[in-house]
Amino acid sequence: MSPLSITLKSAEDIAKMRRTGLIVADVLDAVEAACRPGVSTWELNEIANEVMTKAGATSAFLGYAPHGMPPYPAVICTSVNEVVVHGIPSKSVILEEGDIIGIDFACYKNGFCADSARTIPVGNISEEARRLIQVTRESLERAIAVCVHGNRLEDIGHAVQSHVEKHGFSVVTSFSGHGIGRFMHEMPAVPNVGQRGQGLRLKRGMVLAIEPMVTAGSEDIEVLDDEWTAVSADGRLAAHVEHSVAITAQGPMVLTRR
Ligand code: MF3
Ligand code: CO
Repeated sequence: MSPLSITLKSAEDIAKMRRTGLIVADVLDAVEAACRPGVSTWELNEIANEVMTKAGATSAFLGYAPHGMPPYPAVICTSVNEVVVHGIPSKSVILEEGDIIGIDFACYKNGFCADSARTIPVGNISEEARRLIQVTRESLERAIAVCVHGNRLEDIGHAVQSHVEKHGFSVVTSFSGHGIGRFMHEMPAVPNVGQRGQGLRLKRGMVLAIEPMVTAGSEDIEVLDDEWTAVSADGRLAAHVEHSVAITAQGPMVLTRR
C-alpha cells in the first residue's frame, strides 16, 4: 500500500529516482519523435513499451486500478486535443496534422518510480494551440522554481494558476499532482491552484510530481464511458505537462529531464 503520510527521500533514494527519471525522459523522447501525422496512438504505446522494457523498467500504468476503476490497459496515456488526461492508446486514433497530443508515462526501476508528461504538436498547429502549450509549459517551470525548502505547498498551485489565468486559460482542478517515490501516488496531493504562503511546508527530501492541466475554455471536464478518458466538457483544447521534482539543499532538482 502507498504510505498515508509523506515519506522523505534520502540522497541515495533521490539518486535512484534520478536513474528512473532518465528512463522516463528516454521513453518520452522516443514517443515524441514518433508523433507525426498517420501514426496511431497504439503505435506510440508500443514504442514506449519497447524503450521501457529494454531499460529494464516496469510500467506504473499497466494494470493500475485505483478505487474500483477498470485496470489501465496501456503503458502511456495519449490525450489528443480536447482530451485533458488519461486518453487510452488505440489503433483507431490516428494523429493528424494540427493535433496536439499529451503523452504521460511513469515506470519503476530499482524500487523507485518517476512520472512525466509532455504535450506535443503534430506538424503545424493553430496559434491558440501553440499559446496553450507554451503557457502550460511555462506554468510548470514557475511551479518547479518554487520547490524550495521552507516554501509552502500552495506556492506551487499559485505559480501555476496565476500564470495560466493571466493568459486567459483555465486550470483543471478535478485532478492534482502528487508525491512520488516507492509508489507512483504518494502524499501529498499537489493542487494546481492555491494561495501563496498557504499549505504544508516544503522540506528537503520531498519529491513531488507536478502536473498542470490547462484548457483553452472552461475548466470543466467529463469522463468517458471507458472510465479513464477525461475530456474538456466544452470540447476546447487541453494541455498537460508533468515533471517529478526533488526538493534538495541545492534547490529544485528535476528528475525527469536531462
Ligand atoms: N501521470 C498520471 C498520474 O499521475 C497518470 C496515471 S493514470 C494511469 O496520475 F492509469 F495511467 F496510470
Ligand atoms: Co502524475
